[in-house]
Formats: sequence, C-alpha cells, structure tokens
Amino acid sequence: MHTLPAAVPAAPIVIERGASLRAFNTFGLPSTAQTLVRIGSEADVKKVVNNAELGRAPKFILGGGSNLVLTKDVALCVLKVEIKGIRLLEARTDAWIVEVGAGESWHETVQWCVDQGLPGLENMALIPGTVGAAPVQNIGAYGVELQDRFESLDAVNLVTGGTFTMNAEQCRFGYRDSVFKQDLANKCVITTVRLRLPRPWVPVLGYVELERKIAETANIRPDARHIFDWVCEIRRAKLPDPAHIGNAGSFFKNPIVSAEQCKDIIGRDPEIVHYLLDDGSYKLAAGWLIDACGWKGKSIGRAGVYERQALVLVNRGGASGAEVITLSRAIQESVYGRFGIKLEPEPVVI
Ligand code: EPU
Repeated sequence: MHTLPAAVPAAPIVIERGASLRAFNTFGLPSTAQTLVRIGSEADVKKVVNNAELGRAPKFILGGGSNLVLTKDVALCVLKVEIKGIRLLEARTDAWIVEVGAGESWHETVQWCVDQGLPGLENMALIPGTVGAAPVQNIGAYGVELQDRFESLDAVNLVTGGTFTMNAEQCRFGYRDSVFKQDLANKCVITTVRLRLPRPWVPVLGYVELERKIAETANIRPDARHIFDWVCEIRRAKLPDPAHIGNAGSFFKNPIVSAEQCKDIIGRDPEIVHYLLDDGSYKLAAGWLIDACGWKGKSIGRAGVYERQALVLVNRGGASGAEVITLSRAIQESVYGRFGIKLEPEPVVI
C-alpha cells in the first residue's frame, strides 16, 4: 500500500488484443477479451474516451472479477481498473475519511485501516474484489454494508470524459445493488472511493456467529482487530478461498418475500431460516433453501455446490461458464418447484 501517487506525465495507453480473462475472474472461467486496457489513473480513462478507436466502443469495467460469471468471449472493450493508493484524508470529530484508489484490494484496505487504528470496516474483512467494485454491488457481511461506511466516490463518464463525484444518496444503494448495476452500468469508471468510519467506533456484534466467538473466547469487549480476526476465521471455515477453488462468493441473493408468503412457507417448512426486515417483509436464507433441496456437495459437469455453504457455486476444475449457468438453472428450478421462490443470481453474467 502506498499513498496516492502524484499525477505523472501522460504515457500512452496500452491496448492488449485477445487477452485471456481466466486469471482475472475468481471463478477461473475461460474467456478472451478482444480488447483490454489497464487503467492506472483517472487520466487513463480520459485517454480511452478520447481515443479514436476505443472512445465509441461499448465498455465492460473489470475490478477484481470476483462477482462475475464469464460464459463467452468478450467483444466489449474491457477496462481493467488498477488505480492504486490509500490515505487518511481527514480525521473529523465525527468520522475518519479514508480515500482509496478503485484498484486496491478490498481486504487489504480493511487490513490497512485496522493496522492504522481506523476501525469500522472489520466486519467486511476477506470479501474478495476491489475497492471500486465495493459500491457497485454494495458489498456487506456480518451486519455492515458498504453504504454504512460510505462518504463519496469519484468517477469518469465514459461518453464525455468528465469527472464527477457522487454521495451515498446518488449511488442509490440497495441490497447488493446500486445505480452502477442499473442506469450507470458500464457508463462510468469509479476511480476513487472515500470511506467514512464513524467516531466514536461502535462494534457491530449482532450476528449469531460473532456472538458465538464472544462466548467461546469470553472476550466481551472485542476491539476492531479481534472482530477482524473472528470474521476471517468464520469466513475461512465456510467459504472457499478463490486462490484454491474458483468461486464468486454467494451465487444467489437472499430472496425477500411478503409476510403472507413467509407464513405460508413456514407452515410447510417450519425450519426455514428467515429474518424480519424493517418494512415487515422477510429475507429468506437462500443457502438454506438450496441445502433443503439436497444440492450441497452436488455437481453438474465440472461446476459444483460447495460442501460447506450451499449458496456458493464452485469450479471443480476446468469448468466453463456454461456449466456454471446450467447448474444455477437446475438449482433455481428445484427451489422454485419446492418453495415457489425464484432465486436471483448475485454475480454479473456475461
Ligand atoms: N444455511 C444452511 N445451509 C447452507 C448455507 C446456509 O442451512 O448450506 C443457513 C445457515 O445455517 C444460516 C443461514 O442459512 O442460518 C444463512 O447463512 P449464512 O449466515 O452463511 O449467510 P448467508 O445468508 O448465506 C450472507 C451474504 C454473505 C455474507 C453473510 C454474512 C448474501 C447473498 N450473502 O450469506 O455475503 O458474507 O451473509 O453476513 O447476502 C456474498 O455476498 O458474496 C457473501 C458471501
């Protein structure tokens, strides 16, 4: 990690042709980009916009490739965001503001903050992907979502080349959703994200698995580092490390149903894991639904359902994107057949 670099004199952008994307998606799926450009700075985005050939071409923005299912070669111009830098921008009385380049690793950013004594991100440790991708799907884990720690971001418009700043409201964050997955999808490149870590720090310990850690360790006043370590232990125990087993984290969103629907399902399946939301609707655990349909540990071709968490689909070695999609459709059908619920994939499918 380094501080944000000063602007460097313009160097031409490098256009790669026929670039393999296998190493750039955590599922390890085979795919080739017709055109790939590595983006190291905001200036690089502007150079792409002003380039005679690339300017008009439709784009695909690639961060860490951790929320992506590639089913074919990519004809779009792939912009691989590699903008680096992290610094404490401001220490206000009500919050620390940390400014991070979009290409930094999310987990390393969480670790850097904990190491610097800047708490607030620890519940989101070990989420794969880059900082620039974090607002796109409003990442979250163990009771904290990106939107709870967000100040603003800078992005470059891919048509005009203009830079603009957006606050949380403008990002229209939802559950694993934002304006960048909707109206602004592939229309701008997020270059810098500013995180807001509220002061005084209040630990978020409401999740059952964190309560269990408190009971096990008898540490009733954990600091941010304890929580960081616990979250890493919990995730390592049940989520596959993409460095060893290709995957894209949770494959489906947890479905939200009305109180009546939930009551109806509980009537038939009293064990179903469900959480009451503020608006009176219920979130159901998709992992539980898939598990109940007997999918845990099963495979179709070389794509499989992870043994320790049914919500995660894995590449058992050499799988194609088509095999992953075949498996996901079979799961959707059986969950729909048994519960009448349509599971919606979380990753972007290309
Ligand atoms: N469950 C089963 N069988 C399974 C998997 C889960 O019965 O095979 C049950 C669990 O026992 C638990 C419930 O389902 O009672 C929920 O499971 P878990 O606590 O593992 O969390 P999740 O709902 O599966 C969500 C996020 C994760 C995030 C965790 C922790 C989504 C789609 N997933 O998973 O995010 O880390 O909560 O906050 O919201 C991701 O988005 O990629 C991701 C990993």
